[in-house]
Amino acid sequence: MHRLYGDLAPWWPLISPPSEYVDEIPRLQAALGPPGRLLELGSGGGHVASHLLQFDRTLVDLAEPMLAVSRELNPDCRHEQGDMRTIRLNERFDAVLVHDAVDYLLTEDDVEQMLDTAAEHLVDGGRLVIVPDDIADTFQPGTTSGGSDDAHGRAARFLEWVHELQPGETSVQVDYVFVLRERDGSVDVVHEQHECGLFTINQWRRMLSDFTDVVVSVTDESWGEGVLITARRSRR
Ligand SMILES: C[S@@+](CC[C@H](N)C(=O)[O-])C[C@H]1O[C@@H](n2cnc3c(N)ncnc32)[C@H](O)[C@@H]1O
Repeated sequence: MHRLYGDLAPWWPLISPPSEYVDEIPRLQAALGPPGRLLELGSGGGHVASHLLQFDRTLVDLAEPMLAVSRELNPDCRHEQGDMRTIRLNERFDAVLVHDAVDYLLTEDDVEQMLDTAAEHLVDGGRLVIVPDDIADTFQPGTTSGGSDDAHGRAARFLEWVHELQPGETSVQVDYVFVLRERDGSVDVVHEQHECGLFTINQWRRMLSDFTDVVVSVTDESWGEGVLITARRSRR
């Protein structure tokens, strides 16, 4: 497990605060459709879910420490630990959301397993919404930074350095450096490398061939826009 989602999970609300997701909520709400039962796979700290109040939300994540962060923010949600490729709750939902956690699926086989999970949990005609950080067709390597402070002197900053996509690969290396400042002023610096999946529009369309109404949209990269994939579970 990555340290970011393990022992560093309590820093998640400062590394990527819930307020940073506000701009993208209207397009997510539009894609998810009317209020109903929502399943989020890879819900992390529940920052996206905390804005989707019109839904009865079930949140699934691989990492218990991230679920603990989310339970505090979203006490009204149901939380389940599990892998988005294999979890089976034996229930149906009106919509399934897979936000940036989809980036941790590195191969077409991983994605197809996640899509089977989504299909198993959607009602007929239910909506699937996937929000990868990027798509191989328009991907550019680069560096970003961010972070925030709390009201009591605890603060986090991070650098994210996304490397080149190698020909024939479906994943890229990402170096993270986290600078974590405790209330007493002591500072810890942590480096870790993540590997993130990247697929072309054609790959996504092919992998979603069992779904209907598939739309893969890519708009300019200002925050709140970017890649949005929507589909519906076929009526059987
Ligand atoms: C960037 S965080 C998600 C943050 C989330 N969007 C939020 O609003 O707080 C990525 C999450 O994906 C989870 N994850 C990675 N692979 C997973 C898998 N196979 N199944 C379920 N969760 C997974 C990690 O544990 C981590 O919590």
